[in-house]
Order: sequence, then C-alpha cells, then structure tokens
Amino acid sequence: MPVILRSESNCQPPLPLERLRQSAEHLLRLCGHQHSELSLLIVADPAMREMNRHYRGKDKATNVLSFPMAEGRDIPNGTLLGDIVISADTAIREARELKIPVAKRLRWLLIHGLVHLLGYDHELSAAEARLMEAREMELQHHLTIIERKNTMIQLAINVDHVATLRQARGINEPDPILAAGICELAGASGIVVHLREDRRHIQDRDVRLLRETVKTKLNLEMGAAPEIIAIALSLKPDMVTLVPEKRQELTTEGGLNVCGQKKKLEEVIKEMRGAGIPVSLFIDPEPKQIKAAAAIGATFVEIHTGRYCDAIGETAQDAEFDLVAQAAELAYGQGLKVNAGHGLSYHNVSRVAALETIGELSIGHAIMARAIIVGLERAVREMLALVRGA
Ligand code: PXP
Repeated sequence: MPVILRSESNCQPPLPLERLRQSAEHLLRLCGHQHSELSLLIVADPAMREMNRHYRGKDKATNVLSFPMAEGRDIPNGTLLGDIVISADTAIREARELKIPVAKRLRWLLIHGLVHLLGYDHELSAAEARLMEAREMELQHHLTIIERKNTMIQLAINVDHVATLRQARGINEPDPILAAGICELAGASGIVVHLREDRRHIQDRDVRLLRETVKTKLNLEMGAAPEIIAIALSLKPDMVTLVPEKRQELTTEGGLNVCGQKKKLEEVIKEMRGAGIPVSLFIDPEPKQIKAAAAIGATFVEIHTGRYCDAIGETAQDAEFDLVAQAAELAYGQGLKVNAGHGLSYHNVSRVAALETIGELSIGHAIMARAIIVGLERAVREMLALVRGA
C-alpha cells in the first residue's frame, strides 16, 4: 500500500480522509512514484504545535509539516518518501477563511507537503520558491482534472412548476412531459417531480408517462403517505426522495425530522429497497439528521439549501453555507450519496456546486422562472407572426 494514512484528530465533522488518501495515490502516480511509500498523519493543533516546536523551534501550530526520508530531487520510484503531517484544525480554519471546501484545502496542503518530500524547498531562495510553486500548480492542475472526471456534479431538474401553470387553467398545456424531454436534451442528469397528496401540480398521469419517457433518471419526490408509497412501488421510479409534506405550505418548507420518525422511515426504506428503489431523505443540514439517515439505511440524503439561499447579508449567508458544506462532508463520510437543493438560483448556486462531496443538485423554480423570461421574446414573436400573417 503506497499511502499509509492515520488520523489522531477527533474534529467534527470528520474530514474526508478516504478522498485524501485517493488524492495522495493519484499524486504519487502523477509524480512517477506509484511504487513509493508515503505516510500521512492527521493531527489536532496541540500535537502540531508540539511537533513544530520540537523540530523547527517554532512554538505555534502550523498547517503542514514534511519529514523527507530521501535526499535531493532525483528520487527513484519505490522509495520510502517520508511523512506528511497535517493539522485538521488549521486546515478547517483556513478553509473557512478562504471560503473553500475543507477537502480542497486539505488537497493543497497534501500537495505542498509532498513537493517538500520530493526535494523542493521554498525557504531556500526566491528562485527555489518559484520552482516549488510551479511544481505545486502543475500537480494541482493535473489532480483537479483527474478528480473532476470522477466527480462531475449533476443537475436534476424539477418540472413541478410546468404542471403548476397547466393546473392554473385546468387544461393540458404546458405539459411537464414535454418540458422534461427538453431538460434532458439540454443535459439534465435527471427529472424530479413531487406527487403531492393534494395533486396541486403533478398528476398521476404525469408520473406514469414520465416513467415511460424519461431517459436519464426519474426521481419521485413524495411524502411517506400510504397512497403515494403504493404508487411509487408500482411505478418504480429510479429513486424516491422522501420529504415532509404539509397541505397548507406553498413549497416543501423544512427537512424531514428523521430522528423523530426513525422506525416509520426505516420501514418505508425497506419496502422501497425490496422493490429495487433507492431512497433519498430530504433533510436540513444538521449532523443528527444525517447520522439518523445513515443509521436507517438511506442511500442518499438531499441537503436542504433553503436557509442558505434565504439568508440575508454575507455573514448570515456564509454561516448557512458552512452548515451545508459541513453536512455534506459528514454525510459523504458516512457513506451516503449526497444531493442538495431548494431555493438554488443563478445567483447562489456556484458555491454549493463547488462542493466536491455533492453529487447532484435539484433545481426547479429558478430555471422555470428564467425559462419564462428568456423564452418570452420568442413566444411573442411567434404569436405576432401568426397574427400579422393572418
Ligand atoms: N428539492 C426538494 C426536496 C424540493 O421539495 C424542491 C422544491 O420542489 C426542490 C429541490 C427544488 O427547489 P426549487 O424549486 O426552489 O429549485
């Protein structure tokens, strides 16, 4: 095993260590050291401070330390390269300051530590610092390409509001089935519809037809009501997302209280699993809900981004974003597949989409609202052409 990873940190949420180990393996390969050995130790700030004091005479914690075993830059493949020690506390703090995911900061610290082990030292001279930085940038670039290939984020589109417009007139257009096809043609990775008990937008016929026509993935959003469960079990969508459903609400308001109804949800998950349908639980970004979701056997969680999207002012938005990012890390670390959605728009989506722990975003209202505006000019011109040409 070329990468030996050990963690002595109890930070919460836990760091995405498996991904860090994979990054280290990719990096060794990129450096032509796939048969070399690297030891990676994650510690807390007090231990880092002690090491920094002992080995470098600096009585403070630092982000990363490297202890090379080989000398120079001409190190053959198959060598014991040495140890990299990273402080989890400092990495988390720096990620918050830089407003980047912790995983990204950890990866940068890993690259920095590894380049030291490979004989580069920015402290020797300005020329050496430039050389080291160039090597770091090069590795960062290649690693990003490799990892992006494996973790390209997906976009699922919720077409409920096409049905909302149709139901406003009680006729048969616009048709969400047609809209779903267009979304797929445009590159959507999946179609989401919420079959509500009150059938205020999506109808049974819509779900039936979508089951037949969707070529990507049909995600049926639903409350855990017996009638809707029976429909899901008979139609077998590609996955279901369980949400709390209240009759009076305009849209899904909060996440599921998984902790408060573990037994009931566990039974629904079992039933769906029996029919080969993976289950996602729509939850607020709260650690206890994530742990409960993992404990009762959910395949996915969808992290509710509503509070982040609704937050007013940079400080409040940053705080809500941190909760989403931490929740996604925790869920990923628990082996759950992680989706996110609600309230995402053209203004606030980028930060969430940059989180590497999230596999898919579910977006509806913002896209349908924009479609009406950017498609309106063409709709008027086409009508005008008919009116004038009559
Ligand atoms: N995810 C879930 C679970 C939802 O209930 C909704 C709203 O229907 C969305 C995502 C999409 O939210 P929005 O329409 O605000 O993009």
